[in-house]
Amino acid sequence: MMDLSSLRAVLVAGKGGVGKTTVTAGLARAAAAAGKRVLAAEVSYEIDSPTPLADVFGVPHASEDPIRVEQNLSIALLTPHAGHLHFLRDALPMRVLADAAMKSAAIRRFLLAAPSLAEMGVLYRILDLLRKRRYDGTFEHDLLIVDLPATGHALGLAQVPSAILKVVTRGPIHDAVLEGLRLLTDPKQTGTLLVTLPETLPVSEAIELARGIGAHKIPLAGVIVNRVPNDPFTSEEREALLAMHIDNASMLGARSLPRIDRAKESIARLKRELGHPPITLPEVLDEAHLEAMVSEAFGIRRSR
Ligand SMILES: Nc1ncnc2c1ncn2[C@@H]1O[C@H](COP(=O)(O)OP(=O)(O)O)[C@@H](O)[C@H]1O
Ligand SMILES: [Mg+2]
Repeated sequence: MMDLSSLRAVLVAGKGGVGKTTVTAGLARAAAAAGKRVLAAEVSYEIDSPTPLADVFGVPHASEDPIRVEQNLSIALLTPHAGHLHFLRDALPMRVLADAAMKSAAIRRFLLAAPSLAEMGVLYRILDLLRKRRYDGTFEHDLLIVDLPATGHALGLAQVPSAILKVVTRGPIHDAVLEGLRLLTDPKQTGTLLVTLPETLPVSEAIELARGIGAHKIPLAGVIVNRVPNDPFTSEEREALLAMHIDNASMLGARSLPRIDRAKESIARLKRELGHPPITLPEVLDEAHLEAMVSEAFGIRRSR
């Protein structure tokens, strides 16, 4: 099993619908059960966009400030706005200046206009949350798990720092971005979990994304193949089924055999092309078992 216990940030990436939010929630609960103070966060670029992670934890709305949802577990919304605000508060000599700047519609428009500035806001917020300490000196959040919005996003975040460092060569912005870049590229602190489905095209896209992530020096902690179909057949049963020449697609087994085979090939291909075997999560029929299954995959059995 992969060891995520030493990391401070886990970025959960992949296409929509593959199971990122499910993995984020399961991992968050597993780490919280293991005694870590966990913050699970989802990225939001638009006000009022849906917050599926909050839904999983039964909270009507996530907010920019972390909300405690369970013991050792909080959730938050990562927005460019929160990042820009905290950034300005850190960069400007007085907090009132930052608050005034963020009240200016012109400044807000400017900060949101360039996509890289919006992403920088999110990145800065990640950094800001990871730096927070309690009065006793320990981290406010031992582990931050980020449910990323779309495939390219891990790359988007990765491209921000070097782009900005080229233009801003010193000063507080430079220092903050450099700190963010160090954290994001340090395999001891950050790991990406790439989630995919056991089908040909999603696996091709996952391999491409894994290479893109690698090219930007963001560490890949692991690949998760989610919704792997259960293979109930022994080899004799399989042969018997094939000998029956099932060509009626409505017949049980006619569609599941090829799907099972594609899943096996997908897993083998990921291992071949990325050099280590992916973690597999089974397709579950009962969604109530989803989370327990994910938590268990990360090595923790829930006690409740
Ligand atoms: N292993 C699984 N077995 C069955 N259903 C799953 C599994 N993983 C995820 N799902 C379901 O698939 C849907 C999409 O999952 P979700 O985690 O929201 O994906 P994403 O966040 O990548 O869009 C949800 O309805 C979820 O309950
Ligand atoms: Mg999601």
